[in-house]
Order: sequence, then C-alpha cells, then structure tokens
Amino acid sequence: MVAQESGPSFASILTILSIVVFTCGFLRIEMEFNKQKDKINELEKVVESMKTSNSDNIAQVNTILRNRRSDSSTNNQTEKRNSLVERFTTGKLFSELRQKICQSSIDRCSPGPPGPPGPPGARGERGEQGQTGKEGDKGIMGPPGASEKQGILGPTVSKGETGLKGEKGDTGTAGIKGAKGEPGESIAAPTVAVSPAKMTVNESKTASFQCSVSGNPKPVSTWSKLEGKSEKILSATTDGKLILPHAAGSHSGVYKCSALNILGQAQALVRLVVNAHPRISLNPGPRHAIQGSTVTLPICHVTGYPTPVVTWRKSFGLLPQGRVRYNNSALQIFQVRKEDSEFYICSAENILGKVEKKTLLVVVSLPRFTSKPSSKIVSILNCTVRLNCSAIGDPHPIVSWRKQGGQLPVGRSHQINGELVITNLQQSDAGSYICTAASAGVFDVEAVTTLEIQKGGVST
Ligand SMILES: *[C@@H]1O[C@H](CO)[C@@H](O)[C@H](O)[C@H]1NC(C)=O
Ligand SMILES: *[C@@H]1O[C@H](CO)[C@@H](O)[C@H](O)[C@H]1NC(C)=O
Ligand SMILES: *[C@@H]1O[C@H](CO)[C@@H](O)[C@H](O)[C@H]1NC(C)=O
Ligand SMILES: *[C@@H]1O[C@H](CO)[C@@H](O)[C@H](O)[C@H]1NC(C)=O
Ligand SMILES: *[C@@H]1O[C@H](CO)[C@@H](O)[C@H](O)[C@H]1NC(C)=O
Repeated sequence: MVAQESGPSFASILTILSIVVFTCGFLRIEMEFNKQKDKINELEKVVESMKTSNSDNIAQVNTILRNRRSDSSTNNQTEKRNSLVERFTTGKLFSELRQKICQSSIDRCSPGPPGPPGPPGARGERGEQGQTGKEGDKGIMGPPGASEKQGILGPTVSKGETGLKGEKGDTGTAGIKGAKGEPGESIAAPTVAVSPAKMTVNESKTASFQCSVSGNPKPVSTWSKLEGKSEKILSATTDGKLILPHAAGSHSGVYKCSALNILGQAQALVRLVVNAHPRISLNPGPRHAIQGSTVTLPICHVTGYPTPVVTWRKSFGLLPQGRVRYNNSALQIFQVRKEDSEFYICSAENILGKVEKKTLLVVVSLPRFTSKPSSKIVSILNCTVRLNCSAIGDPHPIVSWRKQGGQLPVGRSHQINGELVITNLQQSDAGSYICTAASAGVFDVEAVTTLEIQKGGVST
C-alpha cells in the first residue's frame, strides 16, 4: 500500500524538478540575450554619435569592444572565430569611418590645415603599438585576408588616441608644404600662342604656322581659315602645326587657331601672304575701229601679288601721242587713224616676274559706193540685165548681191567684179536686189534696186 502511495508522489516530484530545471535554463538564456542586446545598442549609439563627432569616440567604441571580448568566457574555438569575424567587420567599419573623417577634413583644410599634419609625427612613435596588430596574424587560422587587414587597423585605432595628445604639433611650420599642392594640378583656361603672326611665301612654296596651346585639361586645338563671315576648318598636324604645301594666291588670308576645354576657349590669328606670279588674260583681237572714232582695246585682266604694275605699248613705235589714255586694265585711243592699226601689248610685272600679252587693232574706213544701180530698173522678158555695183574702202571692200526675200535666179545669174548679170529674164525675177559692200567683214553698206519686168518686147 505504502509503495502504491509513494509511487505517484515520486513521479510528480520528478515532473516538478524537471520543470524547475528547464525554467532556470530559459532564464539564463534570456539574461544572456538581454546582455547582448544592451551591448549592441550601446555600440550603435556610439557609431551614430561618431558620424557627427570625431575620433574621440573611437576610443569609446574600442572600450566597448574590449568589454565585449572579455565577456566571452569560453575558450570555444568556434566562438573565437566568430569574435574574429566580428572584430574584422568592426575594423572595416572603423576604417570606413576613418576614411570619411579624413576625407572631410581634407576637403576643409586645403589652405591652412597644413598645421595638423604635424601631429602625425608623434603618431609615428606609436607605431610600436602596431605590433599588437601582429596579434591579428594569429587570426590566419581563420579567413587569411581578414587577418592581414586587421593588422593594419590595429595601429590606426591607437593613433586616434594619441591624436589627443598631439597638441605639440601647433608649432609645425610644415604648413608651408601645403602650398605645393596648389600649383601642381590646378585647372586652367586654355591659352593659345601662334607663330609666326605673319608669313609671306612665294608661290608654290610651303607655308607653315605653329599653334601652341596650354591649359588643364589639355585643350583641343583647331585651325581654320576665315572666309568672309564663315570659317573653313582645316586639318592640322597632331602637334598643332598648320602646313600648306604648294602655296597659291588663293591661300592668302587670315587663319585662326582656337583652343577649347571645359573652362573656355582661346584663339589667335595669323596672316598668310602668298606672292603670286603676274598672269594676264587678254583677248587677242583683232578689234576693228572706224577711222576717226574712239576705240577701247580689250580689257587686260591681270592677277598676281604684289599687285603687278601694268603698262601698255605698241609692238612697233610709240603709242599715239596725245590721243591715248590708259589705266591698269584698258587702253583707249581717240580719233583713230590708219596708222594706229597695230599690235598693242599689255605687260604686267611684280617681284616674281613679268608677263606680256598682245591684242590687234585694225582701223578701217567705211566702204563707199563708187557706182551703184539706180533705185528702179525696168527690163523686158527673155532679155539680159546687168546691175553694176562697186565700192572703195580700206581694206578693199567686198561687193555682193542678194535678192530680198528669195534666191538669185538659179542658173541664169552670175556676179563679176560687183556686177550682177541675169539672163533670160522671167516674170519671177521681178523684185528688190541688194548690193552689199563690206570691209573686213565687219562694216558694210547697202544699195537697193527694184527690178521690173515688162512684156512690152512681145508687142514690138
Ligand atoms: C563550441 O560551441 C559550439 C556552439 O557554440 C558547439 O557546437 C561546439 O561543440 C563547442 N565546442 C567545444 C570544443 O566546446
Ligand atoms: C621670292 O622670290 C623672289 C624672286 O625669286 C626672291 O627675291 C624672294 O627672296 C623670294 N621670297 C621669299 C620669301 O622666298
Ligand atoms: C580704265 O579705263 C577704262 C576705259 O576708260 C574704264 O572703263 C575703266 O573703268 C578704267 N578702270 C580703272 C580701274 O580706272
Ligand atoms: C554697168 O557698167 C558697164 C561698164 O562698166 C556699163 O557698160 C553698163 O551699162 C552698166 N550698166 C548699168 C545698168 O549701169
Ligand atoms: C521668150 O522665149 C520663149 C522660149 O524660150 C519663147 O517661147 C517666147 O516666145 C519668148 N518671148 C518673147 C517675147 O520673145
């Protein structure tokens, strides 16, 4: 009976005991968990404050971390590894923070800050503490790369602490060194220098100009030729040289070298003068002029540089005295005479040479009829009619006949020395006949005769 009674009570005692044990276990886990949470919160707070303040807090964080490390009482390898990883990531965080802080301080201290660089000297001594970084080497057992970085980080953390002590650095005149930075990489607007500013070359020779540009960033340079209001882009060599081989007169003008970078543009002008041989374009003639009139010889077109000197002369003898006038392009003769018929020479000369071209003048006298048929002639069917016509002039005029509005009678007419002979007259031969006297094919005069045909002969 007793055994029966004690049985159940023993089972319940066991149950209660196990409940107590489990509860204790849970409580311990809960406490540990809360402890960890507190540490994390503390760390976060410090990190937040570090964003605003400076390296003072590094020490604070360091302390927290150290506490955290000592908390881990177990020697368990896995936990060690975990703490290594943690330290590694925290180290990374530090290095990033440090970088940010350094960067921000660099931005600020371009002019005066050279003073602060002094303190680093004191830090150098602290380098010994860097040996603590060697402790990191042990970490090789874990992730190898991580342990290296940690070694470097160790010293930096300790530097932060010494930074507070480094007040001695104020005396550092080393600030002068800061000035070196400014001239080195300063950006600059482009500048352009050209040479020579002016160049004169002889035709078919080579002209070249040099354009030197400077600025930072290195400007892009281009050559162009100014043509009125527009520009013609030219290709230049890579070193900014403009080369014009076989210079011609058309290359003369103003050229521009311009340089461009993000800061702006600069330009410079040069002038090229190309000496060109004189060239002449002149109609060779002949040009005819009626005796006594005023004649202007064909225009003498002259090109070349420097502008050639143009002169006129006669191929033989002198220009007509007192009756001639000329300029660089044209020669004019008043009251031309027979003896003015001649070749006239236009001559152009400059430093590169001399050229000449000639043109012929022919002075003619208008043809004059010495005999011409009466204005009306009556002839008879089947008969022969002779129409006389002759003229004089210089050069000797050529006399010819034609029928107005038709042809001369085919097979029944011929011309001999200005005389038109029509045989076996037909009724269709009636009409107007025109005699023309032409001198040099240019100047001519005309006489008109009307021919009438009668049948009267039939009745007589
Ligand atoms: C170390 O702890 C982990 C879990 O924290 C466990 O799995 C492992 O067995 C422990 N090792 C030793 C040697 O205690
Ligand atoms: C151009 O040619 C002329 C004649 O040959 C010579 O006198 C002059 O020196 C030359 N000028 C140049 C720039 O070469
Ligand atoms: C030259 O003379 C001609 C004839 O007299 C004239 O038509 C022309 O305009 C003149 N040219 C110059 C440039 O004087
Ligand atoms: C034409 O001239 C010749 C001589 O030259 C003359 O005999 C003839 O009558 C003239 N005829 C006319 C129509 O005048
Ligand atoms: C003209 O000549 C033709 C033949 O050629 C002849 O038939 C005709 O009668 C002549 N007329 C006159 C008027 O002589």
